[in-house]
Amino acid sequence: MGVATPPTGGATWLRSNNRALSLRGVTGPVSPSTGATVPVLHAIAPPGLEPVVARELGEHGYSTHQHPGHVHVDVEGLAAAVSVVHRLRTPSRVLLPLTEGPAATLEQLARLVRSVDWSPFLTRTSEVRVSVISRGSRIRRRDTAQKKVSHALRDAQRRLKPIRRASAGLVPQHVRIRLDGPRAVLSIDVGGDLLHKRGWRMTAGKAPLRESLAASLLLLAGWSDDEPLLDPCCGAGTFCIEAGLWAARRSPYVGRTLACAQWPGVPEARREAHRPHPAALFASDQSERAISMTRENARRAGVGVQARVLDIADLEAPSPHGLLIANPPYGARLGQSERSVEGVYRSLGRALRGPLAHWRALFLAPSERLARSVDRRAFCITTFSNGSRSVGAWALDPFSDSTGQDAED
Ligand SMILES: C[S@@+](CC[C@H](N)C(=O)[O-])C[C@H]1O[C@@H](n2cnc3c(N)ncnc32)[C@H](O)[C@@H]1O
Repeated sequence: MGVATPPTGGATWLRSNNRALSLRGVTGPVSPSTGATVPVLHAIAPPGLEPVVARELGEHGYSTHQHPGHVHVDVEGLAAAVSVVHRLRTPSRVLLPLTEGPAATLEQLARLVRSVDWSPFLTRTSEVRVSVISRGSRIRRRDTAQKKVSHALRDAQRRLKPIRRASAGLVPQHVRIRLDGPRAVLSIDVGGDLLHKRGWRMTAGKAPLRESLAASLLLLAGWSDDEPLLDPCCGAGTFCIEAGLWAARRSPYVGRTLACAQWPGVPEARREAHRPHPAALFASDQSERAISMTRENARRAGVGVQARVLDIADLEAPSPHGLLIANPPYGARLGQSERSVEGVYRSLGRALRGPLAHWRALFLAPSERLARSVDRRAFCITTFSNGSRSVGAWALDPFSDSTGQDAED
């Protein structure tokens, strides 16, 4: 093994405990250049990961306002909004609020729908889905509200142009209504559906990690594409494939059309070509099925991943330093007990004190006990909810003290 050098990107662990709050309405400020209202996007973040979503938007040059569960960002026009959403990896959804107003009755709600200029978003033939969430509204039945809104939208659509785009009709548009007491907020879902669905993962194991979560953890770890990446419990290959798309500066939505790509108000985008990426990506798993899934998914995404069947107990270092990132089995989640998977965590710890002693590591663990069975020096960067479980993201860094404080500064 060569001499260990710290990762060149100046890797820093981002701690996700900052919950800066500020109150903003749904309509944006007025642009000084055009006088038009600037759209405000609401990027939905899993609770605990708002700072990660804010950080990613910051890397695209946007200043943000964090709220529990979402991050607000002003964008200069619809085309800019569509372009940035195609590059975002960490939010679970992005909404564009279109209006907010009184909706104490079904009639008022329908009036609110009719007050929106739908022409930038819908055509006469767009398929539109409506969902309603309600808190303290006098409109008690969500299905009745949904029908009323759908009806008002169909009326509005009849007055729109029958524009056809190359991909028109493929992706439904999704209008989301939030009834809050006597008022309502109407938003359009920029992606149309949850954004962790990238379109490249056609096969997955029993406990796949959401792709947006994998991207958030890579960002939390401060990974950059000059640092080799190793996932020793790769399952469907999610970490390595997300990392490869990131390294190639490609949109993560390689196998999917986002709803906003069909908005008539924005220019039609060209499909991105496959681009090579510079990252060294290594994936292993004890399961042959997992390795075939990883290879198949990597092929679909157009990402180069070196994948092989290997038990974590036999882990070797594929390069002198790098970032190990892992989502080992949680035990209880797959119907086992935590004790039954402790051996995997202990083997991970032995590898990180042995052949991978010069590697940084970020791993998920469902309990502090399991995390400490990897190494007593592991420090928790954040906790979040993965499926129905609360999970910790734990880090180990041979280039910082045992609390990770040096790396954070
Ligand atoms: C929670 S899943 C990982 C899911 C993965 N992150 C994904 O997105 O698909 C845990 C993985 O650890 C693997 N695994 C369990 N014990 C292992 C061992 N001793 N050595 C290597 N891999 C192991 C399982 O085969 C499974 O694919």
